[in-house]
Amino acid sequence: MKASRFNIWLKDYPGKDDYVVFNSRTQALVKINPRLKDTLDKLEGLNPEELSLFSQGCISALKQNGIVVEDDREEEARLQDFFRQLKYDSSGLPFEATILTTYSCNFRCVYCFEESVKDDVFLSKDTGDLIVKWLIRKAEERGFKRVYLVYYGGEPLLNVRPIYDISWQIKQWAAKNGIGFGFGIITNGSLLNLDLVEKLLSVGLEEVRVTIDGRREDHDRKRPFVDGRPTFDLLIENIRKIIDKVPVAVSGNFDKDNFAGIPEFLDYLEELGLLAKLSRVDFAPLTPRLGPKANPAAIELGSCLSFVGKDGLFKEVLELKKELLRRGLKTRTGLAVNACALLMQEAAITIDPRGAIYKCNALVGYPEFSVGNVAQEDFNPKFREFVDIEAWKSCPQDCVYLPMCQGGCRFFSYLENNNFTEVSCKKEYFDRITPQLIKLEYQRLKDSA
Ligand SMILES: C[S@@+](CC[C@H](N)C(=O)[O-])C[C@H]1O[C@@H](n2cnc3c(N)ncnc32)[C@H](O)[C@@H]1O
Ligand code: SF4
Ligand code: SF4
Repeated sequence: MKASRFNIWLKDYPGKDDYVVFNSRTQALVKINPRLKDTLDKLEGLNPEELSLFSQGCISALKQNGIVVEDDREEEARLQDFFRQLKYDSSGLPFEATILTTYSCNFRCVYCFEESVKDDVFLSKDTGDLIVKWLIRKAEERGFKRVYLVYYGGEPLLNVRPIYDISWQIKQWAAKNGIGFGFGIITNGSLLNLDLVEKLLSVGLEEVRVTIDGRREDHDRKRPFVDGRPTFDLLIENIRKIIDKVPVAVSGNFDKDNFAGIPEFLDYLEELGLLAKLSRVDFAPLTPRLGPKANPAAIELGSCLSFVGKDGLFKEVLELKKELLRRGLKTRTGLAVNACALLMQEAAITIDPRGAIYKCNALVGYPEFSVGNVAQEDFNPKFREFVDIEAWKSCPQDCVYLPMCQGGCRFFSYLENNNFTEVSCKKEYFDRITPQLIKLEYQRLKDSA
């Protein structure tokens, strides 16, 4: 037996001489005392029967969660199985689809990654019906037990009718077949109102996610109406009207420009009595976007790529997570497997108002990256091309982050190399942030125990 090569160790945490170990394949997180650590270090040369009964019990438990493995062959077999499951196994997962009801928007956010593909195209009744048929056929073929839809845009609430029609039809089908169903909406929040929410609740609405980029002056600078008018106060007012009827999440984007104002924004939500009512709060760094429609490779906002670089947003990402957890808000620590939808056969898909199917929201509107259309039964060859990418095979196989990272984000590979297949390595960023995220996750688990 031996310790897994995917163990990430923290020394002197939570207390002096303690260790915490996190396994990047199984995501197990365990506190280890110095004696057991010593045994693990020498495990390869030890005869297990020479160990005390207590140590044998500990080692056996650590074997169950992947921190200890029998030998390199077993570890390799488990790694291959992990990648196979990630790519092909959807059991236990809901069938998720994101539907763009329009490419049109009433905001002009300075960083919007749909800037070049915005268009006054609205999802029609006919395409909506094709989407319903397509979704039901796929869900039946694959035996999913739950369907979850996310309505998205452009601004999805500029075209509400299909949200109601599609959800009503899927809800009827799901009820008849004993399948779970629900949906969420990702919206800029400007068109939310109680009447609309009440109607949508009756067809399966489970959560509304409103994008807000922090305090008033920062948000209004980054997310104004198309004619430049501010939007912050309207969004707060709209959230106030619906929050007791439906779970509302707030998510926002940040860069160095608006980061510092986020705690003030959280204070403001608290003052208004809204913060504790939110179902989730999250902020993500801004990312670059593809170039104009005819030339996606001419990427824009390239400076945002550096958020994972040497002088990137490492400190800011961490501080924000700490701030959200300190306030007891539901958020993600970010210590998770990067299950890239582009590579997963059964992963969530995104359908645009023309019925074109995409495997990543960052690619919508660029037909050359579409993997099919709801008017056709089968995916096009691009689907296989994406699913068959195995960038992780070009990484050092002893990289401790390999199961979580798998060679990096495929969208980033495109931004950096103009193709989806190359390794996009952010090891330096991982080295800096992972120990801190492990501490946050450990604390979070301890607090919730
Ligand atoms: C494209 S919008 C569509 C839904 C809706 N209009 C909204 O803004 O919530 C979905 C999400 O993408 C985020 N987004 C847009 N451009 C981005 C970028 N360059 N980097 C990171 N997130 C971005 C928005 O902030 C929003 O939360
Ligand atoms: S509201 Fe959403 S779709 Fe509209 S410009 Fe902003 S990020 Fe883009
Ligand atoms: S891309 Fe870099 S960090 Fe990710 S698995 Fe490969 S070598 Fe490791």
